[in-house]
Amino acid sequence: MKGIILAGGSGTRLYPLTRVLSKQLIPVYDKPMIYYPLSVLMLAGIQDILIISTPRDLPQFQALFRDGSHLGLSISYAEQPAPEGLAQAFVIGKSFIGDDSVSLILGDNIFFGSGFSHVLQDCASLTEGGLIFGYPVKDPERYGVVEFDDNNKVVGIEEKPTVPKSKFAVPGLYFYDNNVINIAENIQPSPRGELEITDVNMEYLKHGKLQVQPLSRGFCWLDTGTHESLQQASSYVQAVQDRQGLKVACVEEIAYTLGYINSQQMESLAQDMLKNQYGQYLMDIVAENETGSAFS
Ligand code: G1P
Repeated sequence: MKGIILAGGSGTRLYPLTRVLSKQLIPVYDKPMIYYPLSVLMLAGIQDILIISTPRDLPQFQALFRDGSHLGLSISYAEQPAPEGLAQAFVIGKSFIGDDSVSLILGDNIFFGSGFSHVLQDCASLTEGGLIFGYPVKDPERYGVVEFDDNNKVVGIEEKPTVPKSKFAVPGLYFYDNNVINIAENIQPSPRGELEITDVNMEYLKHGKLQVQPLSRGFCWLDTGTHESLQQASSYVQAVQDRQGLKVACVEEIAYTLGYINSQQMESLAQDMLKNQYGQYLMDIVAENETGSAFS
């Protein structure tokens, strides 16, 4: 399976923070926001990744991740010239996807929870249909919202409904078979001028090929769309990390744990960060692994 991170948009809701910098590059506690969705694709076992961003911001992502080989990944890049919708990612990424299935994750979505790696690995084995998630939130009207019938069967998904039919929002993480390219090429822009991911999901649903997996209340899907929620996400990551001494979404650690890079490569990634806790953390992971004291 291939993976796409969509990191476009103008980020106006976070101005002035994002006036000259991509939203997906601003920090969530101790790392750039895009580390979080990248870690999700990595935990799903996906190594071939396309980052889509605006012509203005794409060079910054390239500077950050280069070809991805230092993380055992193959990262390529493509422009989305205008914010014309999430589903456009499959049109832009058509040749990258080739004949494969694909996962799309939004560059500003943060997921964290026990057992998530196993869920992700299952999702990445999908070869037919589409798979999305449903997560209860108190403000569903801001998202794609799942509609259930009396037997809890999914019967519809509405994009930002004024009167939501449930509290289950659809997070920005999607898994599809190769038909998604064809579907995305054939949907029409919505009234807001975007190729909506909700229309792609509705197409799968219409053909009985959409799975909607609920994410339980113990699971964390964080929003970063406002100054308040961004600060809350940073505080959450700090609290979890400080308590356990383990990092959330540390892509270097994940690459090392998955065996994509060896101890020497990990140490060289830490070299220019040795004066801070991030670099020290990478060194500690290697030391623990070599003395066999790691607990995972
Ligand atoms: C997009 C999708 C929406 C989804 C959300 C998740 O909304 O259109 O269906 O629930 O991402 O973050 P946006 O906020 O990009 O308009």
